[in-house]
Amino acid sequence: MSHPLPPDTGELPLAPGQRLLESSRKELSPEALAEIQAIASRYPDRMAATLPALHIAQREFGFVSLAAMKAVAKALGLPEGHVFGVATFYTMYQKKPVGQYHFQVCTNISCALNGAAPLLQKLCARLGVEAGGPPSADGKWSVEEVECLAGCGTAPCVQVNHDVYDEFVDEKMLEEMIAACQRGEYRPWAH
Ligand code: FES
Repeated sequence: MSHPLPPDTGELPLAPGQRLLESSRKELSPEALAEIQAIASRYPDRMAATLPALHIAQREFGFVSLAAMKAVAKALGLPEGHVFGVATFYTMYQKKPVGQYHFQVCTNISCALNGAAPLLQKLCARLGVEAGGPPSADGKWSVEEVECLAGCGTAPCVQVNHDVYDEFVDEKMLEEMIAACQRGEYRPWAH
């Protein structure tokens, strides 16, 4: 049974004080659609392509907005409610805009015991953003507190976008990571 999404007004409450934002983009590009169809063709059930299709949509839209979810549902011929359920379950799909360089700081137990909380505070102060808040005014930086990054034995761990992952991170390493972003050594978000 199909469960349509609410109108794309950006008024859908996710949690107290948190809203799922609209994106100025409404449709997937022809190239992204072709990529999604190619992936879907590998599976007997198109539902199996939901996760990779959402990653493609995130790349295209910059984040997984309601419009992005609707576009994925349309591309795969699936109920919008299914795509919404998957997208909102997984935290690796950003439901609001993030910066060009999105820092994810683990604050779970191993990282917490090794100084993750002050590290997170210092990073936010250094980049002029709040953890979980909007990107910096120039759109370059954002910071998020995340659950275990699976590097508990080498805590604290910090990840930048999808590619760069560092262990035993201290203030000096944070500076090196920021400098690498500024030199363009890391792929920007959603590319
Ligand atoms: S607790 Fe931080 S990586 Fe596992």
